[in-house]
Amino acid sequence: MFDKGKKIAICSDHGGYDLKEFLKRELEKHNYELVDYGCFSKESVDYPDIVHPLAEAVSNHQFEKAIIICGSGNGIQMAANKHRYVRAALCWDIEQTKLSRQHNDANILSLPGRFIDFNLALQMIEVFLNTAFEGGRHQIRVDKISKF
Ligand code: RB5
Repeated sequence: MFDKGKKIAICSDHGGYDLKEFLKRELEKHNYELVDYGCFSKESVDYPDIVHPLAEAVSNHQFEKAIIICGSGNGIQMAANKHRYVRAALCWDIEQTKLSRQHNDANILSLPGRFIDFNLALQMIEVFLNTAFEGGRHQIRVDKISKF
């Protein structure tokens, strides 16, 4: 089941707002502490403004894992991946999510709020939070991602 008692950061733009609110409700039922970096309504916002503070906090090791959502999952992931130590993976099914942990040690899950079933997204989060990084040859590759 869910890995309880962990603090998780979450954010979305307006395109991911409904999914964010759904996931917060469901994850809080499982005793997760969600730290919400916004947005806080469906009013149009620019996803970099929302995700940069969250990604900074992940980069500073304030959170081990985070969930980010925009309409497609692309823009918010691109902005997050500008931060050191951030490995944000855009996923749309269980297998992609599992591989993002096993092979890439993803610490942020990016979801496409306008293109994913909400219950599937919840199942993906369970997988994201509970799948271990395999290390070994994948550690060597992950270490080569950061050029700076
Ligand atoms: C907002 O309309 C939309 O562009 C945004 O949510 C995201 O899909 C960008 O990548």
